[in-house]
Amino acid sequence: MTTMTMSTSPAPAARIQPGRAVEIADGVHWVGVLDPALRSFDIVLSTANGTTYNSYVVRGEKGVAVIDTVKEAFAPEFFKRLESVCSYDEITTIVINHLEPDHSGALPELMKRAPQAHVYLSSRAPMMFKALLKSTDVTPSAFTLVKTGSSLDLGGRTLAFYQTPFLHWPDTQCTYVPELALLFSGDVFGCHFCDNRLFNDKVGDFRFSFEYYYAHIMRPFRQHVLTGLELLEPLELQLIAPAHGPVLRQNPRHYVQRYRELAEGRLDDQVVGEKTLLIFYISAYGATRRMAEAIAQGAEEEEGVRVSLYDLEVGDVSPFIDLIETADGIAIGSPTINGDATKPVWDLLSSLHTIHVRGKLGAAFGSFGWSGEAVAMMEDRLKGLRLHLPFDGLRLKLVPTEEELAQCQELGRKLARHLTTPPDELFAEAA
Ligand code: FEO
Repeated sequence: MTTMTMSTSPAPAARIQPGRAVEIADGVHWVGVLDPALRSFDIVLSTANGTTYNSYVVRGEKGVAVIDTVKEAFAPEFFKRLESVCSYDEITTIVINHLEPDHSGALPELMKRAPQAHVYLSSRAPMMFKALLKSTDVTPSAFTLVKTGSSLDLGGRTLAFYQTPFLHWPDTQCTYVPELALLFSGDVFGCHFCDNRLFNDKVGDFRFSFEYYYAHIMRPFRQHVLTGLELLEPLELQLIAPAHGPVLRQNPRHYVQRYRELAEGRLDDQVVGEKTLLIFYISAYGATRRMAEAIAQGAEEEEGVRVSLYDLEVGDVSPFIDLIETADGIAIGSPTINGDATKPVWDLLSSLHTIHVRGKLGAAFGSFGWSGEAVAMMEDRLKGLRLHLPFDGLRLKLVPTEEELAQCQELGRKLARHLTTPPDELFAEAA
């Protein structure tokens, strides 16, 4: 006798269909678009499998709200999907969490199609809003500015606003529906990952995209991430609906916790109670290296400063970015070659825009043969990044003498002392 067995494989995940909205919660639909062919975002981000521009519709007993729109080129698809869940004359409310064109591209057309809808923006958005509309034939109509604590009643569905500036532009905010514990988080908790199964428990493995997105979009605003988390962490969360990538319905809290881990920095507690000074150098014939070693020697004389020395000749600068993010000061040395600092130094300096370095202590140094431009160039870049450079850089001709190495030691001492001196005493010294 043969026994028949039934397959227990789970049903395949539903996929987004053209022109059809996807219900993500009771009365809430995803009406965004897929952009699977995108290979770079904002010019600088790689998007290996594209992205999505997520827009949502919330239906209440008293009104219908559209949360964010999509990139302009995708407007026809967006409107088709929107029309599958509401008519334009039902739309009472348009909430824009973030005015970057990937979310506001279809806004002018939506305002034309639903002229009665009232627009809600964050309190820091009006200038951008007007600038966005100035090249269109849409006149900025009445709009309401909201801030943390503002809310609006759609009838059984409340939209509560939380300002999260710089995540990722100054105007950004999140919108929360308390009845559903649903957070429309804008760019926050998003990622560039296009998968038409939509939900995080159905799409492919997007962990890399989530981390990559954080590193490039949020990490430069680390302090703002921490401030934003203070607002968002206390919320009950059943669902996070970001502006890019999967809708996070399985363990949404995990993504909030991951942001905190990333924003706090994994290296923070490695050097407790000490200031950190990182000295990077590259050297052709050993002169700039000897300068770096002398600066380190001088700095080490100061109690309470952990000094580290790194040779940039290793080529790959990426391991240093985490270190610099958590350091208190950096000094960078390069010889001048063909009137310029060397490529590894520029590789390092051009990577610093992805982290918060403003206000850190900085210095530059280097040996040169006849023109010696490198030190001033490095100083300009460090100042451009808003580091604080209280001491003139050191540039020494060819091989340093003992006297010149003593100057390097003195620079190290001054840098270390600056790190350990309380700000009010520094201010008194400068006065
Ligand atoms: Fe997805 Fe900052 O725009």
